[in-house]
Amino acid sequence: MKIIFVKDYEQMSAEAGELIAAQMKIKPNCVLGLATGSTPEGTYEYLANLYGSNKIDFSKVTSFNLDDYYGLAPEHEQSYRYFMNKHLFSKVNIPIENTHVPSGIAEDIDAACAEYDRAMEASGGVDLQLLGIGINGHIGFNEPDDKFTANTHLVRLDESTIKANARFFDDPKDVPKQAVSMGIKNILQARKILLLASGQNKAEAIYQTVLGPITPSLPASALQLHSDVVLIVDEAAGQKLWDAKKQGKVHEYVRTF
Ligand code: F6R
Repeated sequence: MKIIFVKDYEQMSAEAGELIAAQMKIKPNCVLGLATGSTPEGTYEYLANLYGSNKIDFSKVTSFNLDDYYGLAPEHEQSYRYFMNKHLFSKVNIPIENTHVPSGIAEDIDAACAEYDRAMEASGGVDLQLLGIGINGHIGFNEPDDKFTANTHLVRLDESTIKANARFFDDPKDVPKQAVSMGIKNILQARKILLLASGQNKAEAIYQTVLGPITPSLPASALQLHSDVVLIVDEAAGQKLWDAKKQGKVHEYVRTF
């Protein structure tokens, strides 16, 4: 894992934006795996600005999002399709038919999940997967469990995730209890993975992701099995890892911003 320690959210977003832009320049028809939530918002703004100044082109890019809430229609303001349209797709020239977000309202969810996996495979696979991380170590909506789930599937959200995401809803009772998420195998099949973390409440999960045991009780620890992961952490999220680095416990390639 290559670890880049940055000062704050703004630097994290800029570093991540530059990395994704580089991927798009190397392979204009690349397949991007995308995430939602507070973490990548700044990255999307950075990419939209690069596009606005003619530095990148999304016309041949395809995207697959990690997840969406079960039961929310794409038009719902808290659906992840809505989030993506608002924060990225409406601001750049990606053909909307090239963008994919798991359906939270398909009549046959299992069939829709299998179809999502097939579509990802047919696209040639994800070149670069962007990830945030939950305070409980979830990636996508793969919550702590006693086994890793491989493919796109329906999940029951953890109480801590429901609580953390209540900030986006007018009434905390409206937070869906289930979601549709790519599985751990889907995520690990990406050629390159970019994990972002900002804020003190992510510090323990990030420490365990890098230095803890590989266990489904901390799903992000599965990233240790992937050979091309870049982790960008800000000072607050990286604090515990930084302390470990000072004690000589972090052997991965490390760069400070
Ligand atoms: C979102 C996703 C989640 C978030 C995680 C962190 O598509 O897959 O794993 O990345 O819940 O959320 P934020 O960034 O809001 O702290």
